[in-house]
Amino acid sequence: MVTSKKLLFFGFAVVVVFAAIATLITVLVLTNNKEEEKNGEDNESYEGPTFGYLCKDSICVRTEINLSNINDSSSLNVCRLTCNTDIGTLWPKPSGSVAFSKRVAPINPNQITISTNNFKGQTYWQVAWQRFREMLFRKIPTDSKSNSRGKSILIEIIAENDDIDFNYDTFEGYKLRIIEDSSNIYVYISARNFYGTRHALETLSQLVVYDEFNEELVILTYADITDEPKFKHRGISMDTSRTFYPVDVIKRTINGLAMVKLNTFHWHITDAQSFPLEIKSRPELTRLGAYSPDKVYTTSDIRDIVEFAKARGVRVIPEFDAPAHVGEGWQESQLTMCYKDSSQTVGWRGHFDPTKDELYNILEDIYKEIVESFKPIVMHMGGDEVAIDCWNTSQMIKDWMNDRNMETNIEGFMRLWDYFQRNALSKFDAVSNSQLPIILWTSRLTEEPFLTEFLDKNRYIIQVWLDGNDAKIKTLLEAGYKLIISNSDALYLDCGVGWWVNEGLNWCSPYKTWQKIYNNRMESIAGNYIDQILGAEATIWSESIDEGVIDMRIWPRASALAERLWTNPTTPWANAEARLLMNSQLLVEVGELAVEPLQLEWCVQNENECPF
Ligand SMILES: *[C@@H]1O[C@H](CO)[C@@H](O)[C@H](O)[C@H]1NC(C)=O
Ligand SMILES: *[C@@H]1O[C@H](CO)[C@@H](O)[C@H](O)[C@H]1NC(C)=O
Ligand SMILES: *[C@@H]1O[C@H](CO)[C@@H](O)[C@H](O)[C@H]1NC(C)=O
Ligand SMILES: *[C@@H]1O[C@H](CO)[C@@H](O)[C@H](O)[C@H]1NC(C)=O
Repeated sequence: MVTSKKLLFFGFAVVVVFAAIATLITVLVLTNNKEEEKNGEDNESYEGPTFGYLCKDSICVRTEINLSNINDSSSLNVCRLTCNTDIGTLWPKPSGSVAFSKRVAPINPNQITISTNNFKGQTYWQVAWQRFREMLFRKIPTDSKSNSRGKSILIEIIAENDDIDFNYDTFEGYKLRIIEDSSNIYVYISARNFYGTRHALETLSQLVVYDEFNEELVILTYADITDEPKFKHRGISMDTSRTFYPVDVIKRTINGLAMVKLNTFHWHITDAQSFPLEIKSRPELTRLGAYSPDKVYTTSDIRDIVEFAKARGVRVIPEFDAPAHVGEGWQESQLTMCYKDSSQTVGWRGHFDPTKDELYNILEDIYKEIVESFKPIVMHMGGDEVAIDCWNTSQMIKDWMNDRNMETNIEGFMRLWDYFQRNALSKFDAVSNSQLPIILWTSRLTEEPFLTEFLDKNRYIIQVWLDGNDAKIKTLLEAGYKLIISNSDALYLDCGVGWWVNEGLNWCSPYKTWQKIYNNRMESIAGNYIDQILGAEATIWSESIDEGVIDMRIWPRASALAERLWTNPTTPWANAEARLLMNSQLLVEVGELAVEPLQLEWCVQNENECPF
C-alpha cells in the first residue's frame, strides 16, 4: 500500500509540474502574439506587387512600390495606355489627330452592346463583332480572378454606305470617340463603309488593356481619334508551293494582318515545286502536282479563306505565276520544259512552251476557276525569272519563231514572251468578263524597250523586287506605272538563313531586321513619284519555312511594315521599339501566333525605362 500511495503522489506531482510548464508556455506565446499584433498596427506595411510603373516625362519608369507612391503607380499595361502623348498601345499609330484622357475605367466584358445602322454585309458584321469580343476576353489571363464589377460599354456604329466591295477606291478611314458617364462607357464609331468601321473596332480593342494590379479590363475614359491609311495596298505575300500550309495557318496569319490593319494577302499559290490549287476541270494538276492528296486547297477552302479575309478587312490576291516557275502538275502535259533538266541552270523552275496552243486552253480553265473562287479585284500573273536560255534550247520553238519571221535573238525571245503574256491575258479577260488590273513582278519584260512596247501602263501594276535604290525603279515611275514595293533588300522576310540547296546563306542575306523594314520609306524609293506607289508587301518565300516557324518569320516584322504603310511616320524606328514589343505581345495574346521573342522585360529591367 505504502508503495502505491507514494506512486500516486509522485504521479500527481508530475502532472502539476507539466501543467505549470504548459501554462507558462501558453502565456509566453500569447504575450508574444500580442506584441506582434501591436507592432503590425504601428508599422503599416505594404502588401502587393513589388514593382509598378510611374509615368515620368511620358515614360513609364519601373519603380519599387511603397505606400507613398502607390496611388501614382500602375501596371505596365495601364501605364502604356495613358502615359505617352501618343497612345502607347496602338499599332499602327493613327495617322490623324488623337486626343485622350489619362484616366481608365474598369469595364465589364459581359456587358458590351453594339448597334449599327443597317448593313447589307450582315455576316461580315457578325464576324467583326464576334472577333472584337473574343479579343477582349483573350486579354484576360485564364487564372485571373477578374470580376464583373466594371462599366458597361455601348458602341454605336454609323457607316455611310453598306457597300462591301473592297477595291483600291475603298476608303478605310474612320473616327472613334469614347466618353464616359457614371455607369457607362459610350463608343461612337463613324466611317464610310464596313472596312473603316472594322478598323475602328480593331483600334478600340487595343484601347482596352488588362490591369494586372486590379485583375480587370480597363479602357480610357475619353478618346477622340481620326485615322486613315497613307497607302492603299498593305500586305504580305505567302508562298504555298515550296511549302504547303494548312488552312488554319493561313487563317491565323490573316488574323494577324487584321490586327495591324494590313489589308492584302497576296497568295503565291503555285510554283514549280508543287501545284496545291484544285482545278476541278483539270484534276491532273493536283493529282500530279500536290505534295499529297491532303495538301490541296479545294475550291471551298479558297472561298472560305477569301470570305474569312474580307470580313477582316483583308483582300486576297491570287497569283498564278507564268510562264516560268512551273513544273509539278504539268508532267504529262508536254507543255513545260527545262524543269528538273540537269543541263539547265534554271532546272529548278520549269517554263511553259509558249508556242503550244493547248497551253492557252488549260490556262483559260485555270483562270476561270480562279476568278470564280477568288472573285479577285486584281490578278497577279507572276512573270518573274523567265530564262531565254531555256526557250533557246528548243529547236521546235526556234522553228516556230522562224515560221513567224521572229528572229531568235534576245528581241525575238522577248517577243515570244510578249506573245505568251498577250494570249494569257486575253484568256483571263475572256473568263473574268472585265479588264481587271494585272500585277507582274519586275523582270526583263518590265525594262525598256520592252516595258512600254508590251505592257499598257493603264492595265499593268508592277511589283518591284529589285533593291530599293535600283535605277530601274525610276524608269518604271517615269514611264507612268503604278508600283507595289517589295524591294528585296528590305522586305524579303525569308532572307538570312541557310540556302535551301547549297551551302552558305541564301541569296538575299542578311536577315532583314524590323528596324530596316520600319525605315524603308516609300519616299526614298519613289521620290517625287510617290503618288504612283500603291503600297508595299513583305514576301515570305517558303523554301526553308514551314508552319512551325512561319509566325516568327512574319511577326513582328510585318507589323513594322504595317505602321510604315498605314501611318508612314517621319520619326525613326527608335521611338517605336517599345510599342512594337507590346504589339508582339498582343499578337500572341489575341492572335494565337507565336511571335519572335522580343525582350520586353529585359529592356525594362536593364534600361529601367522604356519609351512607351
Ligand atoms: C516599426 O517601425 C519602427 C520605425 O521604422 C522601427 O524602429 C521598429 O523596429 C519597427 N518595429 C518592428 C517590430 O518592425
Ligand atoms: C518610395 O519610393 C520612392 C521612389 O519611387 C522613394 O523616393 C521614396 O523614398 C520611397 N518611400 C518610402 C517611405 O520608402
Ligand atoms: C492613396 O489613396 C488612398 C485611397 O484613396 C488614400 O487613403 C491614401 O491617403 C492615398 N495615399 C497617398 C500617399 O496619397
Ligand atoms: C541561243 O543559243 C545559241 C547556241 O547556244 C547562242 O549562240 C545564242 O546566243 C543564244 N541566243 C540567245 C538569245 O541567248
